[in-house]
Amino acid sequence: MISSLHRPTKAKVNLDAISANIRTVVDHIPSQPKVWAVVKANAYGHGAIAVARHIEGQVDGFCVSNLDEAIELRQAGVTKSILILGVVLPEEVYLAIDYQLTLTIASLEWVRLAKRSEIDLKGLTCHIKIDSGMGRIGVRSQAEAEALIAELQEQGAFVEGIFTHFATADEVDQGQFEEQLAFFRALVRSLDNCPSVVHASNSATSIWHADTVFNAVRLGVIIYGLNPSGTALDLPYDIEPALHLESALVHVKEVPAGASVGYGGTYHSPKAEWIGTLPIGYADGWTRDMQDFDVLVDGQLCQMVGRVSMDQTTIRLPKKYPLGTKVTLIGKSGDQSISATDVAEKRGTINYEVLCLISDRVPREY
Ligand SMILES: Cc1ncc(COP(=O)(O)O)c(C=O)c1O
Repeated sequence: MISSLHRPTKAKVNLDAISANIRTVVDHIPSQPKVWAVVKANAYGHGAIAVARHIEGQVDGFCVSNLDEAIELRQAGVTKSILILGVVLPEEVYLAIDYQLTLTIASLEWVRLAKRSEIDLKGLTCHIKIDSGMGRIGVRSQAEAEALIAELQEQGAFVEGIFTHFATADEVDQGQFEEQLAFFRALVRSLDNCPSVVHASNSATSIWHADTVFNAVRLGVIIYGLNPSGTALDLPYDIEPALHLESALVHVKEVPAGASVGYGGTYHSPKAEWIGTLPIGYADGWTRDMQDFDVLVDGQLCQMVGRVSMDQTTIRLPKKYPLGTKVTLIGKSGDQSISATDVAEKRGTINYEVLCLISDRVPREY
């Protein structure tokens, strides 16, 4: 979809903040691990190509979720290693080899299917995935891990890495995290033929368990300046949110007491008031459940009144403002700020989802 450039709604992305956040996190990890930036889902909504190009010099590689995201980066000229975190089916392996992409291999069934289908794994670089307790993908025992490595090697693949993913590293209760860590540590130690790159740390693990890092980290949400736990755990150091979502008033009117605003007539002005309209709606990822939350105009909190429509949102203004007045939906205005985490709390979700949902219709400005 083409983004809508000719309206004042945009996501401003501060690429230098992303670079600075990476430096800050890495400086606080006692070992010197390889660093992969997780740029899946269009770099959590920030724009994968722009982000990857900007930080390529300071990281060892990138993680994406699927083949198309990886190919997009290669076609944009990214040359560093790219690990695909999701499962790519054997029939697509030739693309991984052609584009020199690293695949995650998560089951014995996968490697056996490749063999039965006579798919050539020569030239393929892969990391095997261990399910230490997340329950999504990966082998679940030392025996399966040994067999997977052996069968991949037998079929000509280069098994460069082994990794796992934690389900609760961003939670106050560390019980499951400790169990997963112990399981993965023991498994890695027990392998005769352990791949050289061993990684388990996402943002939360890299921040709050920096001493448990193996020899590589996969940094996602933290590089975009957000706390992976939302508000559950405090960050041990400052990081800077990289994305600012803004729009502007395109219509301003004074309505009398009792006026109905928006679909469903869910809001009636209690008295005469100024209502402003913004060209942003749920098709931009500004979802309907944002009704009654605030935006910032001229450093003041202004409530969204009436339903959020597909393309427009109405807000109550303290006074008449001229058309074109900037409105901040995520970011700072004067002394006030609204973070993606604040928006997530209003929606009953996580800051990751808020950023990923900002749709392609919203242009990213760097
Ligand atoms: C396997 C894997 N590693 C790393 C990450 C990055 O996580 P975070 O954004 O919490 O750092 C993700 C994110 O979903 C993931 O699925």
